[in-house]
Amino acid sequence: MRKKVIAGNWKMNMLPNETISFIQELEPLVKDTQNEVILCVPYTDLFYALLTAQNTNIKIGAQNMHFEESGAYTGEVSAKMLKAINVEYVIIGHSERRQYFAETDETVNKKLKAAFANGLKPIVCVGESLSQRENGEAENVIINQVRLALEGLTNEQVKNTIIAYEPIWAIGTGKTATSEDANNSIKWIRAEIEKIYGKDVAEEVIIQYGGSVKSSNAKELFTTSDIDGGLVGGASLKSEEFAKIVNYNR
Ligand code: PGA
Repeated sequence: MRKKVIAGNWKMNMLPNETISFIQELEPLVKDTQNEVILCVPYTDLFYALLTAQNTNIKIGAQNMHFEESGAYTGEVSAKMLKAINVEYVIIGHSERRQYFAETDETVNKKLKAAFANGLKPIVCVGESLSQRENGEAENVIINQVRLALEGLTNEQVKNTIIAYEPIWAIGTGKTATSEDANNSIKWIRAEIEKIYGKDVAEEVIIQYGGSVKSSNAKELFTTSDIDGGLVGGASLKSEEFAKIVNYNR
């Protein structure tokens, strides 16, 4: 049985003092869950988040990283640096980074390899745009992104990759994919992974849904056959709302 993994993506929100209060409020609300709880916070909040979440079941992640270990890359942060302060997870290839910061399937693949080389657990994002969905290209687009992102990884690494299927048209728009559509897209991804890496890997890999997940739709989404939890943006900024999503099955 795959575990459900619920990750918050705070994006460019929250200051250190807000981070500390948020985690203090969230902790008692989620301490009894069997689901994995992750908060992906801005770089400037990481240290405070890690300290506050110590000895709790809340795991901390970053939202991006560079693929090189060190060097002349002004403004960038490497996987090695994240690992050195005990960050556990990192989001890679979020559609906002692909759209506004010129990330490509190639850089996503390099980042995944660098994350594994440094002992970080990646959450890699894929998803189609509205026009791609309307033109019937969604399956091809998603499968291609998955194939290129994972290229050259070992079976063991693929098993330990979290994939977040996030249709771009559902992010921050209040429009959620129907649970049936989201589940179907995730089945395409799992089938592709089975084709390349085998049944064993496909059955273990965690594939989340992201895009306007909230407490009112979490249960419907997360109780389908193939959706293994969610990557939650806007609704992860309020501790009570996020806790309700984490506790969708309680
Ligand atoms: P949203 O964002 O929940 O605000 O739609 C999800 C995401 O971008 O990861």
